[in-house]
Amino acid sequence: MSNIFFPNVHFNNIYEISPEFLKYKGITHVLLDIDNTLVPYSVKIPDKKVIDWLRALKGAGITTAVLSNATEERASVFTENIPEDIFKKDEIITIGKAGKPLGKGFKRAARLLGADFKNMCIIGDQFFTDILGGNINGVFTIWVTPIDKNESLFIKSKRVLERPIISSYRRSLKKMGGDTVGLLGVIGYPIEHSVSPQLHNVFCQVTGFNFFYEKFCVAPESLEQSFEAFKAKGFKGLNVTVPHKENIMKFLDSADHWSKKIGAVNTIVFKNGKTYGYNTDMYGFVNAVKHETGFDFKDKKILILGAGGAARGVAAGCIESGATVDFCNRTISKARELAEIFGGQVIDWEDGDFSEKFKEYDLIANTTSAGMRPQEDILPITVPFEFRKGQVCFDAIYDPERTLLLKKAEKEGALAINGMGMLFFQGLEAFKIWTKEAGCPEITEEQVDSAVKLLKERGIKVW
Ligand code: ATR
Repeated sequence: MSNIFFPNVHFNNIYEISPEFLKYKGITHVLLDIDNTLVPYSVKIPDKKVIDWLRALKGAGITTAVLSNATEERASVFTENIPEDIFKKDEIITIGKAGKPLGKGFKRAARLLGADFKNMCIIGDQFFTDILGGNINGVFTIWVTPIDKNESLFIKSKRVLERPIISSYRRSLKKMGGDTVGLLGVIGYPIEHSVSPQLHNVFCQVTGFNFFYEKFCVAPESLEQSFEAFKAKGFKGLNVTVPHKENIMKFLDSADHWSKKIGAVNTIVFKNGKTYGYNTDMYGFVNAVKHETGFDFKDKKILILGAGGAARGVAAGCIESGATVDFCNRTISKARELAEIFGGQVIDWEDGDFSEKFKEYDLIANTTSAGMRPQEDILPITVPFEFRKGQVCFDAIYDPERTLLLKKAEKEGALAINGMGMLFFQGLEAFKIWTKEAGCPEITEEQVDSAVKLLKERGIKVW
């Protein structure tokens, strides 16, 4: 956004601004306006909520300083009441009468903090002081909605002048998902290794849509409470991963046909106080196979190895695309359950004609964890079998990049693809659902290609 009066981003309040967001933008030092940004004018000292937020920033290694146009006294009374465990008195920098929007206060803050403007941001509620000042000085600008409408006459008159700029800013971002940054995320337990934040933030980058995506570690016993908190915080959407995909369903207002059949959701939309569940794993699988091999699912015979959650998603994708599925699993009874839901036969690898039957399938999809790190040297099938030329072998595993099964498939003339494409396309499908809800334009092929390129540059090889 190149207008000198427009902020780089807008949040409803400071609590929507997470340390992860700031870090993602390369920000190490935050300048804070006080009045109507952190607290109302009438409040002289920071409350517990402000203090907790500052503590979270400090915990993430982000330094904060106060840059206020109010009197020196107002600014220092405020900062003196920030507990010592967050800021030692000589650590927090307080600049009153900062003279925003002019450069003086910004330059002083940068000098005292020992920081570069490019790693700094200003968070404030006024366009002509905080935002304009930040923009003039090349500091990242974050506009928050003013807390209190009860302002002085002078500020009220500035608000009148701000109004057309705010309207124009809002209009400029209408098709980008709205003017406030739309919060998205993934919940799971554990979640540290999730690549979804990288994936979705690359989607945000290539489309220019106004969203930010984070991962959240949510323990099973706090699922309901956390889910309510995401709703209350104004999240636009969530991805759900292991072990919550099934359990989250009981908290949703509705779920689509396929997620009910699969018995699991991986994507949630929050809209007008209601929650809607989807399962994009099935599209992730189908689109990845189509994209990477040109495979046409119509009337094809597919053998699914495994009978867990991933098998259900893959089966749904196959059926929706016009193929038939059979199931093969270490525990036969679980394969039977899936055959009852999705149709098809149960194939027992102990049967004498297994290797012959195996060759009849157009596509073999492994959804088991056999072959995944640290079990790289095992196959999901424990009897002898061979691929035939022209078969397609899909493995939902992507770590290692090439499983023993994929290596064998390749050696025997089958087309082999790993689970990275499925991960990419299930994410893309979820991103499409959220951005469509927000009125964004359709994502183009060029944008998808750019996302794949950008991910590769960042060490994530989709294909
Ligand atoms: P997910 O939700 O990822 O599908 P899951 O529900 O735990 O995970 O299912 C894992 C699947 O991998 C199961 O079908 C499991 O077989 P069982 O039903 O017999 O447990 C299968 N699986 C796991 N390890 C396996 C192995 N070493 N060999 C063959 N199948 C295996």
